[in-house]
Amino acid sequence: MLWLGDFHNARQLLGAMDRRLERTAAKRNAQPGSSPSEDFYRIRQTRAQRSRMLSLLLVPISFDTPDATATVPLPRAPQLGAAVAFGYDRQPGYGKQDAVLSLQELLGIQGGHQWFLKGVEVPALGARIHPHYGTFLPTRHEYVDLVAAAPLQDMELAFDIGTGTGVLAAVLAARGVRKVIGTDIHQRAVDCANDNFARLGIENTAKAQLTSMFPPGRASLVICNPPWLPGSAPTSLDAAVYDPGSKMLLQFLSGLPDHLTEDGEGWLVISDLAELLGLRTTSMLPDAIDRAGLEVIDRLDTVPTHARATDGTDPLHAARSRETTSLWRLRAKRRGGL
Ligand SMILES: C[S@@+](CC[C@H](N)C(=O)[O-])C[C@H]1O[C@@H](n2cnc3c(N)ncnc32)[C@H](O)[C@@H]1O
Repeated sequence: MLWLGDFHNARQLLGAMDRRLERTAAKRNAQPGSSPSEDFYRIRQTRAQRSRMLSLLLVPISFDTPDATATVPLPRAPQLGAAVAFGYDRQPGYGKQDAVLSLQELLGIQGGHQWFLKGVEVPALGARIHPHYGTFLPTRHEYVDLVAAAPLQDMELAFDIGTGTGVLAAVLAARGVRKVIGTDIHQRAVDCANDNFARLGIENTAKAQLTSMFPPGRASLVICNPPWLPGSAPTSLDAAVYDPGSKMLLQFLSGLPDHLTEDGEGWLVISDLAELLGLRTTSMLPDAIDRAGLEVIDRLDTVPTHARATDGTDPLHAARSRETTSLWRLRAKRRGGL
């Protein structure tokens, strides 16, 4: 439906559609006796359907000239030009031409733009990280705190695989690591990380580059916070949360021995939510570590403190309330064992 009336009314309509879809979803999700993994897949499917339905409400955007910022030519529409540029400027095919957009997506971009302007406070850094659109928001502090607390053996060089906003690379630089190279497969994440390094004044220490998995060479510390749940990832936002077939996790483990210096450490940051939901067996991760020729030096555990962990209305509450986030300290197995 292309909405050509009052912008405020379009928002109200979207809210009403959302409430109705939520009631249907709640009925559909309440299936006593089903397993945690069945619950998870059903809830994901219901969410995707709900999002698809909501995305059918469209609003126009227009540009007075190709150099102008976008406006939404509807009564009572706010100024959204900066948010539209934030979301789409570097998107292939974004041609600054009149177009129609899903209102749901436009409001999501507006919210993302506010996060970017305000920044996310990261206590371990004592500073704010500014997430670009589509990058993973470091709003959960517990995993960042683990990276800030784990014992550091060598300060020379670290790699941060899947750097996202660059938050973990920034924590390592703040802890005194002299050079940190972050990699990501999304250009917007690479730009975002480099932007954050510049804002934090560490651009000479930390650098992000467009690379799948490891940069060339070896480092004394290689860290990775892969998406924690196996699952399909149709959008770039999904790709920060879901790792199809645990591919990134397995590539990190199998490639680690070839990118560590002799006494180097790999730090894997991951929670056990996938195991609690029955999406991975409990032996999968220890077996993959062993198969990769790695051994565990130590595991630092913490419990999530974010709001969802204690939200009893969350359909996945039973699993989330038992979730543990861990930093696995790994090293290459010594020949002949220890
Ligand atoms: C869970 S996010 C973590 C982001 C950041 N390190 C943090 O801790 O907030 C995972 C990141 O890995 C990136 N990624 C996915 N596959 C990758 C690959 N093959 N090589 C490098 N980065 C990848 C994603 O784009 C995303 O930014």
